[in-house]
Amino acid sequence: MHIQEIDKTYVANTYDRYEPVFVSGKGSLVYDDTGKEYIDLASGIAVNCFGVADDAWIAAVTAQLGKLQHLCNKYYTAPQAMLAQKLCERTGMKKVFFANSGAEANECLIKVARKYGHDHHGANCSNIITLTNSFHGRTMATLTACGQEAMHKDFGPFVPGFLYAEANDFASVAALADENTCGILMEMVQGEGGVNALDAEFVHQVAALCKQKDILLLVDEVQTGNGRTGKLYAYMHFGVEPDVVSTAKGIGGGLPLGVCMMGAKTADTLTAGTHGSTFGGNPVCCAGALSILDRLDDKLLADVARKGDFIKETLSACKGVSGVSGMGLMIGVALADKKASDVAHVCLDAGVMVMTAKDKLRILPALNIPDELLKKAIDIMKGIIEA
Ligand SMILES: Cc1ncc(COP(=O)(O)O)c(C=O)c1O
Repeated sequence: MHIQEIDKTYVANTYDRYEPVFVSGKGSLVYDDTGKEYIDLASGIAVNCFGVADDAWIAAVTAQLGKLQHLCNKYYTAPQAMLAQKLCERTGMKKVFFANSGAEANECLIKVARKYGHDHHGANCSNIITLTNSFHGRTMATLTACGQEAMHKDFGPFVPGFLYAEANDFASVAALADENTCGILMEMVQGEGGVNALDAEFVHQVAALCKQKDILLLVDEVQTGNGRTGKLYAYMHFGVEPDVVSTAKGIGGGLPLGVCMMGAKTADTLTAGTHGSTFGGNPVCCAGALSILDRLDDKLLADVARKGDFIKETLSACKGVSGVSGMGLMIGVALADKKASDVAHVCLDAGVMVMTAKDKLRILPALNIPDELLKKAIDIMKGIIEA
């Protein structure tokens, strides 16, 4: 049997997969089992920040693998402690909990918000407001948190205490926020929802409301984080100070790692025994993450912004493109009269891997994609969109 048939027979039908079977790669080039080469503009949905088989990351991971691959979280290990320290130093957050995925990082964020509410305002203070079109994960609590009705079909009953406000409509947030609200959760750029950045004024109004009512400002940086938008975390574009930040994807560089960062208000909310994880903060994943975080410096971030501008400028001027959205190397492309999923398939045939989000094309290349490869891939996309 071919790999596709084995997969279709034995793997759950949750993914509508593209046809090729991928076997290897280097940087932003990936190869399928026929030897065909592809330029990767997806980076595993914002995971492989430094591309495939990145040398520095491999060296960090394999060095740690040869020393200690895992220990119970009852023991100290250096990579976890060092990573937490570096994350706090770079963000001003105070404490970090490590999980294995974005959804789990958000589970922790939700628990922190609820416990903070209970500790400071009583047991009824447990509601979390999220935004329409948001995406926060696929576990029951994070699925409930997603402000997308279509995702909720067939999976009820849901975790109580989630309320949905309109994104970019402050009045709709203010109308839901009361003494029972412990947190307001948002993505600064809604990724799965169509790569839409929130309006700065809306973000400022929500942040001010949170301060005024002692509601926690909760930011999901699972997709936007770790340099993706041209700042280390996307909230840094908006000049706000979140109380809890979740991230995952890019920080692990391809190994599973979720991060929940807590600010001054929430640093001591979780106490011994209130949360935990077997694999969370695994030394191998953390050693790899340290090698990534160390390279997310000002020069790289400026490069991300510059490359993002190049993509935006080129595709905005393209016949058949009705709009370009997003920040840095997280870009959505709305098409005037072609279906994004059809264009993504044609791009793949032409050797360019690109994602979709809702009815847009979604471009999320490795942060260090070489200029000439990026230009070549965008030219191919342009030709396909304009054809
Ligand atoms: C904003 C956001 N939050 C949470 C998640 C869930 O992350 P994971 O798939 O690692 O559980 C995602 C994944 O796409 C995401 O984009």
